[in-house]
Amino acid sequence: MSTETTLAIGGERTSGDDIRSQNVMAALSISNIVKTSLGPIGLDKMLVDEVGDVTISNDGATILKMLDIEHPAAKILVNLADLQDQEVGDGTTSVVIVAAELLKVANELVKQKIHPTTVISGFRLAQREACKYIAEHLAIKMDTLGEDTLANCVKTTLSSKIIGSDSDFFARMVVDAMKAVKRVNSKGQTKYPVSAVNILKAHGGSQKESLLIDGYALNQTAASQMMVKKVVKAKIACLDINLMKSKMQFGVQVLIDDPDELERIRKRESDITKERIQKILDAGANVIFTTKGIDDLSLKYFIDAGAMAVRRCKKEDLKRIARMTGATFTMTLANMEGEESFDPSALGEAEMVIQERVADDELIIIKGCKAHTSSSILLRGANDFMLDEMERSVHDALCSLKRVLESNKVVPGGGAVEAALSIYLERVATSLGSREQLAVAEFSRALLAIPKTLAVNAAKDASDLVAKLRAYHNKSQTDTARANLRWVGLDLVEGTIRDNVAAGVLEPALSKVKSIKFATEAAITILRIDDMIKMQQENKNQKSAYQQALESGSLDG
Ligand SMILES: Nc1ncnc2c1ncn2[C@@H]1O[C@H](COP(=O)(O)OP(=O)(O)OP(=O)(O)O)[C@@H](O)[C@H]1O
Ligand SMILES: [Mg+2]
Repeated sequence: MSTETTLAIGGERTSGDDIRSQNVMAALSISNIVKTSLGPIGLDKMLVDEVGDVTISNDGATILKMLDIEHPAAKILVNLADLQDQEVGDGTTSVVIVAAELLKVANELVKQKIHPTTVISGFRLAQREACKYIAEHLAIKMDTLGEDTLANCVKTTLSSKIIGSDSDFFARMVVDAMKAVKRVNSKGQTKYPVSAVNILKAHGGSQKESLLIDGYALNQTAASQMMVKKVVKAKIACLDINLMKSKMQFGVQVLIDDPDELERIRKRESDITKERIQKILDAGANVIFTTKGIDDLSLKYFIDAGAMAVRRCKKEDLKRIARMTGATFTMTLANMEGEESFDPSALGEAEMVIQERVADDELIIIKGCKAHTSSSILLRGANDFMLDEMERSVHDALCSLKRVLESNKVVPGGGAVEAALSIYLERVATSLGSREQLAVAEFSRALLAIPKTLAVNAAKDASDLVAKLRAYHNKSQTDTARANLRWVGLDLVEGTIRDNVAAGVLEPALSKVKSIKFATEAAITILRIDDMIKMQQENKNQKSAYQQALESGSLDG
């Protein structure tokens, strides 16, 4: 049935069982890479790229992105982790593990002569049922739980990360930062944009010296010592314009014989910038940010006007500041008439812009932005690797908090959802009278990969713990008087099981639902493949058939 043939057009074709097994193998090897980093007792990975840069991470998506993966099926899993990262932000390791496990069980079913199409439709059915069950039976409204719920969700996310040991401290910080950026959009929905929380990094100090800053902080100082350090009722201009002395275009030749003329050209060159600055100041700006440079000579105009100017800002910072203060990010002063002007409406507003000494650094902080509020977190850490990983962890925490705040639903973590689903889906499978029965049953078995991996990583007896977990969930689903047992999940420190809602191990419900959906879709994408045709890379040195024939003389005469 399976074949591997060489194509006439120069390529290789693999089909049938061979290609399916190959793809499953590739997916499993990807999942094996990240498997040991799952859970609060999971470990980190160190990755070294081709130029020797080192990254240390626990985040599934980051690890997989750094690997140079060639296998097409494995790439699908890398994309899957990336998708989960973008859509949810957390749960990237889990999604890859579930997808690989689904592929493994599916391949076994196909080997038992069950057609892939049946497996696929079974998986689809199981996924729908699972998501429905989470929404109806496992998700808990946040308001019904205590005040600590938000902090607990953050702690669950942070538990596996480098800052897990100080998760209480960081949880409070992340919750405060996120609450500060709450906004209501035009449709009346409450939103918590992650991008409104700026994360800064500074070497030195311990991680517990990290702090939350009210307002948008920039790791920059005013361009001159003599500038004002504090501007109240700030009118902010965000520019992408060079305020250096303008120079004549390269290659332009001007012939003059009068030295005064030369002086006039020089003066005009510096006047152009002066006029530009004057236009901006005349519009009422008293804080000027630009992504490009400002001449030392031009600084004088700002100092005289009592304005604060900051040069060489990062573009993305300025775009965010523009959004928050209501400014327009200006790329050029040219208007429709071909002249230069600066409209006061392009200015943003904030209550105060201040240069302050925070920790060991001078920072510029914009407080009370007009359009949207913002907050900043200054992370302190011993070295770059640590700071980068701290930033990723805080970002994960912010994302998962956003999901909880916006959807208002949480589920217990520590394998509780997976165990409950596996019991439920087994019952669904038994009630099915069609061919999909086996696929649904196998789907339920694949979900157990999460509690199993969590237990193995914590150096506990996985079979024992998972069996106990399933027994409790079975009880909760068959005996209505014991329904509360559905919150039971793993306690990885003690190696037992406990009520994870009471213990405060909570995750956003949306994260679980999405990760089951994405994992199923990715597994199905790979399962549908029954043929791979790989074109041979064209050998540049090899001459074409026509050229060979021409040279051998067979085309002559
Ligand atoms: N205190 C805890 N006790 C038991 N299980 C926990 C605890 N904290 C987290 N977990 C579980 O650990 C898993 C999350 O682990 P981890 O954060 O390493 O991976 P991820 O969220 O899938 O991926 P990533 O964070 O790399 O994007 C979840 O299944 C969660 O329920
Ligand atoms: Mg996580």
